[in-house]
Amino acid sequence: MQATSSLDAHPTLVHPRNYRYIEVQPLTGVLGAEILGVDLREQLSLEVWAEIRDAFADHQVILFPNQKPTHEQHLAFARGFGQVIQLPQLRSVEGYPDVQMIRRLASDTGRVIGENWHADSTYFDEPPLAVVMRAVDVPSYGGDTGFLSMYAAYEALSPAFKELIAPLNLVHSATRIFGSAYLAQSRRYNSSGAKSDMNVELGDREIAHPLVCTHEVSGRKFLYLNKTYTQRIEGFTNEEGGPILAFLYEHCARFDFTFRARWRKDQILVWDNRCTMHRAIPDYTGQDRLMTRVTIAGKRPKR
Ligand code: SIN
Repeated sequence: MQATSSLDAHPTLVHPRNYRYIEVQPLTGVLGAEILGVDLREQLSLEVWAEIRDAFADHQVILFPNQKPTHEQHLAFARGFGQVIQLPQLRSVEGYPDVQMIRRLASDTGRVIGENWHADSTYFDEPPLAVVMRAVDVPSYGGDTGFLSMYAAYEALSPAFKELIAPLNLVHSATRIFGSAYLAQSRRYNSSGAKSDMNVELGDREIAHPLVCTHEVSGRKFLYLNKTYTQRIEGFTNEEGGPILAFLYEHCARFDFTFRARWRKDQILVWDNRCTMHRAIPDYTGQDRLMTRVTIAGKRPKR
């Protein structure tokens, strides 16, 4: 008998709550919500923060339209999610090392930062918990960011496949982003995007994380892999592990696990970097796009 997708058992993956201080408008039944009624330039009360954290836990990606924060205010809001860190490959705004940039100029033709489904820096021992990104300069069309829920991807697997993958660890590294695999290929980042003076040894360093992790807040299980940083299944040959990873990459990108964030100038978006993947959609050739982003420290992912 063929097993059916366990997603069928979930009429909705979002559990509606009653909010008193903010308005939460879900964007899909899987992930993404717009948050209204809050001005991120102000110091937020504990009650507002508690509701923002609930919305973040439930929806995984939260968007705040029409915000006009300074770099200090952007940083102050981001600190509400945890300790701020920097990603080694990204350039920073002058005078604000913790505010980093995703910038593409109209004239850029090189590789696009984040063009494949990924979570940020899963090659860290303790990969980031979240990213707080602000749209500074948006193209007149295109330049959206796609997001997908790795909870939904996990939950849709059959019980037998879940059992099969439960004990597996994956080896991650940044070799294709700034290590020797990056240097071996001709498609590079433009100098306006990523840094060019990266530490190749750091790029090649490997770390293993579980394939199936448990979220520290929600307690839900999620898949933890991405084509950008995942190298192989620990202990498997590529012939053995390659087909499993290929299936999972295709499965995770199922359209019903995704939503597409349309950027408006001065929109702030926060994504949970543990249980989601994202990808930049490079469909705005000939136009500038500038995002500033603050990265929040995370913990080592656990089974
Ligand atoms: C990223 O992967 O951090 C970039 C996302 C984007 O530019 O939309």
